[in-house]
Formats: sequence, C-alpha cells, structure tokens
Amino acid sequence: MLLAILGLFLYCDSMTVLGIETSCDETSAAIVYDGHVKSNVISSQYVHSQYGGVVPELASRAHQRMVVEVVQEALRLAGIDRRDIDGVAATYGPGLAGALLVGLNFGKALAYGLDAKFVGINHLEGHLFSNSLTSDQPEFPFVSLIVSGGHTLLIHVREPFKYTVLGQSLDDAAGEAFDKVAKMLGLGYPGGPVIDRLAREGNPRAIAFPRPYLKGGSLDFSFSGLKTAVLYYLRDLGIEPGNSLGPSFPDAQVKDICASFQAAVVDVLVDKTIAAADRCRTNTITIGGGVSANSGLRDRLAAETARKGMRPFFPPLEYCMDNGAMIAYVGWLRLRSGMSTAFDLPAVPNLEFM
Ligand code: KG4
Ligand code: ZN
Repeated sequence: MLLAILGLFLYCDSMTVLGIETSCDETSAAIVYDGHVKSNVISSQYVHSQYGGVVPELASRAHQRMVVEVVQEALRLAGIDRRDIDGVAATYGPGLAGALLVGLNFGKALAYGLDAKFVGINHLEGHLFSNSLTSDQPEFPFVSLIVSGGHTLLIHVREPFKYTVLGQSLDDAAGEAFDKVAKMLGLGYPGGPVIDRLAREGNPRAIAFPRPYLKGGSLDFSFSGLKTAVLYYLRDLGIEPGNSLGPSFPDAQVKDICASFQAAVVDVLVDKTIAAADRCRTNTITIGGGVSANSGLRDRLAAETARKGMRPFFPPLEYCMDNGAMIAYVGWLRLRSGMSTAFDLPAVPNLEFM
C-alpha cells in the first residue's frame, strides 16, 4: 500500500508540463519537468513602444502570430516531442482579454488534442513562484512582494495555495507609476527600465518627493499622489509633461528626478515588505514581477534585510518579466496535487489574486 502511494507521488512529480503565458505583451512558453525548468522562450512585442503603452488589439495579433513558433521552440530546447507533454498550463487572468484568449485557447486545444491534463493559472500566482525556478528556493512560510505593471501586492505564503493578502495597491501599481513618470519625462515605454538606468547616475536626495505610507500601519500602497507630485514638480519647472524635454534641459536634472522618484517608491516598498515580514514573524522575503528587476529596489532590500538578519530572494532577470516558466511551474504544482481545470474555463481579465 505504502509503495503504491509512493509510486503515485513519484509518477505525479515526474510530469512534463508546458506553460503558456500571453496576458500582456510577451508571448512565452516553457517546459517544466519534475519541477525543473527545461526551457523558457520569451518573444517580446516591441510594436507598442511607438504608442507609449500596450495596444490591446496589436498585442492579441502578435500573440496569434507567435504562439505556435514559441511553443515549438520551447519543445525543441527541452529536447522533447509534443506527445511527451503530460499537462498544459495557461494563464487565464488577469490581463488583456484578447491577449489572454490566444494562449488560453491554444493551451486548451493542445491539451485536448494530446489527451493531456489542462490547468488555468492566475498570472500573479506565477510571479509568486518565480523564485522557485532555480535551485536556491525559498522555504515556506515567506512574505512575497509582487510588483508589476498592473499590481502591487504583499502576500503571506504559508505553503503552496495557502495565501493571505496583507496589502495591495489602492490606485496605480508601482510599475504603472514608473511608466507614467517616464512618459511625463518623454522617456518612452516601458519606462521602468529607463528610469532604473538613469537613476543610477542621479542623486536620490535631490528632490524630496512624498513617501505615501498611508495611516495606521497599513500595508496597502498608493502611488498616484507621488506620480502627481512629479507632475507638479515638472510644471513648476515650466515643462509640459509628456513632451520631449529638449536639448536645453540638463541631463543631470532628468537623472536626479528619476533617482528621487525611484527612491520614494523603493522606500515605501521596502519598508512595508519588512513590516509585513515582521508582522508574519518570518525571516524570508521574496519579490517578483517586472519591477523586481529594479536595481534600486534590489539594493535597498538586500541592505535592509541584511541589517535585520532576514533572507531575501530575487528572481533572475528572465523570470522577473512575464514568462512561461513561472506558469508551467505553478501548473506542475497544481496538476501534481490533482487540481486540473475544466475546458470551459473563461479568460478573466480582472481576475483577483484570491
Ligand atoms: O510583470 P510585468 O512584466 O508585466 C505585468 O504583469 O504587468 O511588469 C511590467 C512592469 C512595467 O511597468 C515595467 O515598466 C516594469 O515592470 N519594469 C521595471 C523594471 N523593469 C520592468 N520597473 C522598474 N525598474 C525596472 N528595472
Ligand atoms: Zn506580470
């Protein structure tokens, strides 16, 4: 009997799962076998940069053009045939409706045709496990900060599927604030990586932008006031936000604005994350989502956690951005626990974390 149960677990662990992610402007597919990433292919859509943000219809069309090729490449790099796939995991929300539908429907059709298991994955749960894709994995329980273009979330992760949301963005997400401030400065889209680069050469104490902490020790976030403070600062300088700054505007001043804005965001993110870990009495902190690539955030979190004797986990850069590996990994976790999904699962653009 014991051997039979053990055999069942071994069989389930050794599943090959294909993960598909198309929630926004990355078409990605990955293979996870036995909890290990065998391939992770990401095709980014650069078409949006000329419009200053993601254009939903263009995103859906680009996913349609790329999805077959990306999945084939993921299979090729993993050295497997599509008939080796035991399960297919696809993001079903949150995200852009048309974009989600491409990956979700492709995943369902493939699973149906292969007689494989299918599971729909919450994109945010994917980011939550982006630190589990390498050999140095965090141990449960931990506190996780998910910072992306659409979300800022603090989550207490007691074990897989046992989560408590401790705080979240009440208005603009952190990545959205980065993108909007970059747009005001005429720096293009996506703005986060550009601000990060320019901030490295600026003075973070040059401008005292507000730190929105909210009242009563709240672990929620609100970055729209900070964004407006940058807007007023630019207007006071006689700059009409959104216009190109022109050659007469000193580079050093742009770098100082970027560094001071980034420092304000990072202070709030790091202080609330450490407070959350204290409250949950855990020493382990993980971060995930596009903004977790930010060098200022990584440096400050590393310094503060070292001071407190806490252990931070940062995902490798390819797992900060949207990727299929995190979806395949959560798919593997769910499928081996028997949590498959029916084929009538719809795309849910406004899907909540819980
Ligand atoms: O997780 P993600 O790839 O997509 C969503 O799920 O939203 O996150 C994208 C966000 C964008 O707002 C982008 O500007 C931001 O992540 N981002 C960064 C950096 N790299 C990407 N923000 C700050 N610093 C970065 N280095
Ligand atoms: Zn994301």
